[in-house]
Amino acid sequence: MTKRVFIKTYGCQMNVYDSARMAELVAPLGYTPSETAKGADLVILNTCHIREKAAEKVFSELGGIRRLKDAKEKRGERMIVAVAGCVAQAEGAEIMRRAPFVDMVFGPQSYHRLPEMVARATRAAGPTGQARGLEAHGILETSFPAEAKFDHLPESAAATEVSALLTIQEGCDKFCTFCVVPYTRGAEFSRPAAQVIAEAGRLVAGGAREITLLGQNVNAYHGAAPDGGEWGLGDLLCALARIPGLDRLRYTTSHPRDVDDTLIAAHRDLPQLMPFLHLPVQSGSDRILLAMNRRHTADDYRRTVQKLRKARPDLAFSSDLIVGYPGESELDFRATLDLVAEIGFAQAYSFKYSPRPGTPASAERQLPEPVKAERLAALQSLLREQQRAFNGAAVGTTMPVLFERRGRHAGQLVGRSPWLHPVHADAEPDQIGALVPVRIVGVRSNSLTGIVDGLEAAAQ
Ligand code: 5AD
Ligand code: SF4
Repeated sequence: MTKRVFIKTYGCQMNVYDSARMAELVAPLGYTPSETAKGADLVILNTCHIREKAAEKVFSELGGIRRLKDAKEKRGERMIVAVAGCVAQAEGAEIMRRAPFVDMVFGPQSYHRLPEMVARATRAAGPTGQARGLEAHGILETSFPAEAKFDHLPESAAATEVSALLTIQEGCDKFCTFCVVPYTRGAEFSRPAAQVIAEAGRLVAGGAREITLLGQNVNAYHGAAPDGGEWGLGDLLCALARIPGLDRLRYTTSHPRDVDDTLIAAHRDLPQLMPFLHLPVQSGSDRILLAMNRRHTADDYRRTVQKLRKARPDLAFSSDLIVGYPGESELDFRATLDLVAEIGFAQAYSFKYSPRPGTPASAERQLPEPVKAERLAALQSLLREQQRAFNGAAVGTTMPVLFERRGRHAGQLVGRSPWLHPVHADAEPDQIGALVPVRIVGVRSNSLTGIVDGLEAAAQ
């Protein structure tokens, strides 16, 4: 009998990648994916801990799942409930205590053990699925195992997605004072280049035409090279660009400190490397950058952007920004606005600083909430303006769009421009997976609309 697995993913693209791997890991046990928790035999919440209220969101979601599990057990069926990801890593014991019906809790470095954990939970629950209580079968796996997770994952299945994700690096050794990642994802680790190239080859064979390389600190990549040396991200991108049929490469998320000359040269030399770069700066004030332990100044960031723009003039930038970090003065905040105004971002994420348990900045005196809110509003208004200008400049141009899926309206497809704009255009479904020149005719709040080049002429 087939069983159903429901995986709910929170947070970053790394979690999206991990969720896909988890689905593959349980497939041999007979689990097929389900769109909802209702009726599922295995429910996995793949959680994110980066900002506030993450744990509360998980507990509230678990409330609903508990009701579904109880209902199922009344019918004599079983439901295994798992909490995975960074909340699990950071607050595993608390989850076990507050939600004893949860069968297993495991961190991002342990999910390759999922089949074994599912088998254990299944045995512990007994043939009727009657829960025997946490003491009997709760599984907590939040250690950082010595074996490399990636060596124990099944080879990723043939991609069905045009745009695929590929994790090449995990963890972080930077210890920015606001960030939980070094604690939840552990030390920096790079997969060997040959393993990455092989996985990319399989994704392309399965239909992917674009690959986004993922890592918490992706440009700190330093993987074992096929020839025995070590490769940085720039070297790896050059090798991947040689895979026939792989039209587009992207990578995220980068740290300004780790943009080296080889990477800049890759932006100059590889047409496959898309002209859009997410490069978080966090603040425009040197005082705050120092307090954040970012290990770069605002001018370092300006210089890096300049070099990259020289190498690839059409490169557009996106960023992450934090307002209201402890000690941020009005002057510091103004330095952030100045830097943003100067760089001109295509798009950016901005956040109020939120104290994360266990991180150094959480012990500092916090700024009042209204100050944070006011600064965030001012910053977001500037960023919105910049995004509008960036999107508006696309109107009237023709750009290659990689169609990924059907749109909401009949006859419409959605794809991405080189600059990551979602683009809607009328096109036949067989164009999914094709790179098509599209003339941009309109702008919506977060996307563009266009006409496939040649279609206008054909209609006349
Ligand atoms: N408070 C606010 N924003 C944060 N980020 C990370 N930690 C925090 C925090 N404690 C933001 C940073 C990071 C992005 C992924 O989330 O801007 O780049
Ligand atoms: Fe967190 Fe990024 Fe800083 Fe690492 S570099 S600690 S992931 S913000």
